[in-house]
Amino acid sequence: MHYTARAHTNIALLKYWGKVDEAIITPTTTSISLTLNEFYTDTTVWFDKTLASDQLVLDGETISGTAAQKVSRFLNIVRDMAGFNDKAYIISTNNVPTAAGLASSASAFAALAGAASKAAGLDLSVTELSRLARHGSGSATRSIFGGFANWVPGDDRTSFATPIFEKVDWPIQLMTVIINDQPKKVGSRLGMQHAKNTAPFYKVWVKLANSQVADMISAIQQHDLVKLGELAEANALQMHAMNATSVPPFNYLTDKSWQVIMIAQELRNQGIPVYATMDAGPNVKLISRPEDTSIIKKALTDVVTSSQIIIASPGPGIKVTSGDKI
Ligand code: DP6
Repeated sequence: MHYTARAHTNIALLKYWGKVDEAIITPTTTSISLTLNEFYTDTTVWFDKTLASDQLVLDGETISGTAAQKVSRFLNIVRDMAGFNDKAYIISTNNVPTAAGLASSASAFAALAGAASKAAGLDLSVTELSRLARHGSGSATRSIFGGFANWVPGDDRTSFATPIFEKVDWPIQLMTVIINDQPKKVGSRLGMQHAKNTAPFYKVWVKLANSQVADMISAIQQHDLVKLGELAEANALQMHAMNATSVPPFNYLTDKSWQVIMIAQELRNQGIPVYATMDAGPNVKLISRPEDTSIIKKALTDVVTSSQIIIASPGPGIKVTSGDKI
């Protein structure tokens, strides 16, 4: 039986940046995200007794090597849960511009969890799906849900995401400012491991990040864009400051990233609520009201062209259908 899942990627408003357990991917901090409508992965899976090995096709290309091994390791978990050993076809299409530097592993492993579990005959709850997706990539844990989601630390059983508000009925958008479309030099998996192992402030950061959770949840509940933005920007800058104090230091932000961060600050001085957040790359994502789009774009004209700006709005949770189309 074929099953296809669509899962959307998400932007962390409070970041996940470090694991307690590398093998099962449990985080050191609670992270909170917003799922995005415009960026998603569609993945179709079916198991076939006659196959000698898993066959992965990503954006029309047959994939082998590390990426394929990661998918097969993930499918082994699904096979263990289902109690069989058949290999699978996995056909996946990414609608996440790699240039945007948004974690496509979030939508990829969420979609894979949804399609593979159904194709294996498992009927998992969203909680079980979130827990399963976590084994592929931490950020995928949150992509099972639409809107705002909250992923908590814990053990293999208790670390999963829950929705805060799946349907976002107030004006908030995310503007991705593309500064560099090259693959990142230090991937997030290695980056967070290095920060955890060497940054002298890592423990302080964990305490600080966890102390921001209650305020972030109340900002979301109150539809308070200013409070949400201030916390998200502070949390992102704290994560990047920690990377700069790792030994040896590493850094994802460029001069242009900082220019955009400063433009957001100037706009705030003029009364426009716009806040920056950055992941494991130089691109800056601006959290704002949709009505301020043109004024923000105008302020960015010295740094990027309009083709380097992608606007996204809150998106839905995972959808799984039988067959090979959503
Ligand atoms: C900066 O989920 O890609 O985007 O669990 O090792 O696959 P792994 O890492 P990943 O890391 C995401 C890091 C981040 C922050 C976040 O999304 O919370």
